[in-house]
Amino acid sequence: MSNYHIKHLEEYYQVYRKSVREPENFWEEVAEEHFLWRKKWDKVLSWDFSKPEIKWFEGAKLNITENCIDRHLATRGDKTAILFEPNNPEESAEHITYKQLYERVNKMANVLKDQGIKKGDRVCIYVPMIPELAIAVLACARIGAIHSVVFAGFSSTALSTRINDSDCKMVITADGSFRGNKTIDLKGIVDEALESCSGIESVLVVKRIDSDINMKEGRDTWLQPLLDKASTECPAEIMDAEDPLFILYTSGSTGQPKGMVHTTAGYMVYTAYSFKNAFQYRENDVYWCTADIGWITGHSYIIYGPLANGATSVLFEGVPHYPDFGRFWDIIDKHQVNQFYTAPTAIRALAKQGSELVDKYDLSSIKVLGSVGEPINEEAWHWYNDIVGKNKSPIIDTWWQTETGAIMITPIPFVTPTKPTYATLPFIGVQPALINDAGEELKGNQVEGKLCIKFPWPSMARTIWRNHKRYKETYFSTYKDMYFTGDGALRDEVGYYRITGRVDDVIIVSGHNLGTAPIEDAVNEHPAVAESAIVGFPHEIKGTALYGYVTLKETGEGRIHDNVRKEINQLITDRIGPIAKLDKIQFTQGLPKTRSGKIMRRILRKIAEKDTSNLGDTSTLLNPECVQNIIDEAL
Ligand code: WTA
Repeated sequence: MSNYHIKHLEEYYQVYRKSVREPENFWEEVAEEHFLWRKKWDKVLSWDFSKPEIKWFEGAKLNITENCIDRHLATRGDKTAILFEPNNPEESAEHITYKQLYERVNKMANVLKDQGIKKGDRVCIYVPMIPELAIAVLACARIGAIHSVVFAGFSSTALSTRINDSDCKMVITADGSFRGNKTIDLKGIVDEALESCSGIESVLVVKRIDSDINMKEGRDTWLQPLLDKASTECPAEIMDAEDPLFILYTSGSTGQPKGMVHTTAGYMVYTAYSFKNAFQYRENDVYWCTADIGWITGHSYIIYGPLANGATSVLFEGVPHYPDFGRFWDIIDKHQVNQFYTAPTAIRALAKQGSELVDKYDLSSIKVLGSVGEPINEEAWHWYNDIVGKNKSPIIDTWWQTETGAIMITPIPFVTPTKPTYATLPFIGVQPALINDAGEELKGNQVEGKLCIKFPWPSMARTIWRNHKRYKETYFSTYKDMYFTGDGALRDEVGYYRITGRVDDVIIVSGHNLGTAPIEDAVNEHPAVAESAIVGFPHEIKGTALYGYVTLKETGEGRIHDNVRKEINQLITDRIGPIAKLDKIQFTQGLPKTRSGKIMRRILRKIAEKDTSNLGDTSTLLNPECVQNIIDEAL
């Protein structure tokens, strides 16, 4: 039996049982056999969910880049580590071997050091999906700097909030980015953001679109000339197991985004182990995850998980619809991709185009299809399974979160029989629990409740950057001694899990987590707006889209409303990014409120979903009369 590579269902159950009964022995064996340590741990695990404090492999010393790069040089030096597919299909793909990656990461690491970046400093990376993004991430890890990647589709306000929250010293960016037939002025966004970031000492700029940009004297430097002069050798900083590796922001149901902190050893062990098994990656397979590195999926399953296994990982700069909706299939055909990992929103958008575009390409290389980011609906599941996978490539519906660091519930392909819309079984070492409204754990099958995890797993986030209190309140205070995910789930008659969706005010639009509070704040900035409430409603492609209820200070005419609508969405674009724009805006005279003044979102959600048959008890409302008006005027 191999603990590291599970190949059939019986083995899954055996390994799973071991991981639950003897978690320390189990993870110690995995860690010992498959990674490179400068020093082994003194203790495998110590934990206390009431504080909460979680430590894995305490006392161990390592550098994750030695595991992701150096140790492959002897056997895989000439193997492609990163396969870069540019936005423009006419531009040739770039194969970066492990040896070249080693040299490029070291050069970048030396540049960072020359610029004064030291172990523990925070570096903000705001770079499009080009090799320099992965290289910058790894260069930070090489020297022990904490990377904070911000998705390069976020606005300048969102960027500056994140830079300031974690006191970044440096920003790495690009002159611009390509997105289909458009270019985006990234450097302009950075310049705007930095007007309110006094802690930034330097900005390194990658040349990508070759546009004429403004370089601020004494602050901004082109990266390439510095790289040209840098040495290809940079000794790896030796890190403690629990030293932070990165911060990644995710939306909460209230307030500012949360800077989730992931540490080094546990994150490495679990992402590597889950990558190997969840994708059944074999040597020489070509693996492609379409996520952006700005999200956790890209961190764990474009960079760290694949590279820790010596895999070939495709990095795609472009979008699914450029030059046409066949681009994904073209890339799979061209690079003979074996494992393909994408989001339900992309699957729905592509399914809408029909199967002709898929059938134009040879997809016979595909072995495994992955889905992540939101529940996959039945129709999309079948299209993916039948049309893309030709009924022979299992779909792994992987449930996990920024906070969990890696995949938590998933079928193991060719091992776990799949079931449409079910994430199926907990991954090795994961102990899920479903909790009812009374806070009790629901035992047995055919139950539905709030999804919690009752035992630590190695890749869990350890805290929220400089806000441990919020970490405790958000994840460990709802239910005693449990990590609360914020999701609802059910367990069917055979013990398979199906994720039913968020149970808090986080809304997942096209797979992106959005908190309602910052969007409402942006809307309320409009001078004509008195108040607003945002809820989700079902959307054919996005899964869920945003519906805003807005009360104005003075009611105007329809024409004015249209302008206000545009202006509201512009404010959202400026403050957060275009992903948070409202699909529907309904102006209303009032919002339903409880006697304590809290907006009753439950009612607004139902109206947005066009499900007004049973609104529940509205008698406790302060202003029940407004409900009928909202229903009558609903969009
Ligand atoms: C949702 C993305 C159903 C869920 C890795 C979770 C899913 C949130 C699935 C985390 C799935 C993710 N089925 N829902 N397979 N995967 N989610 O932090 O609500 O961007 O809590 O991490 O996405 O989103 P995040």
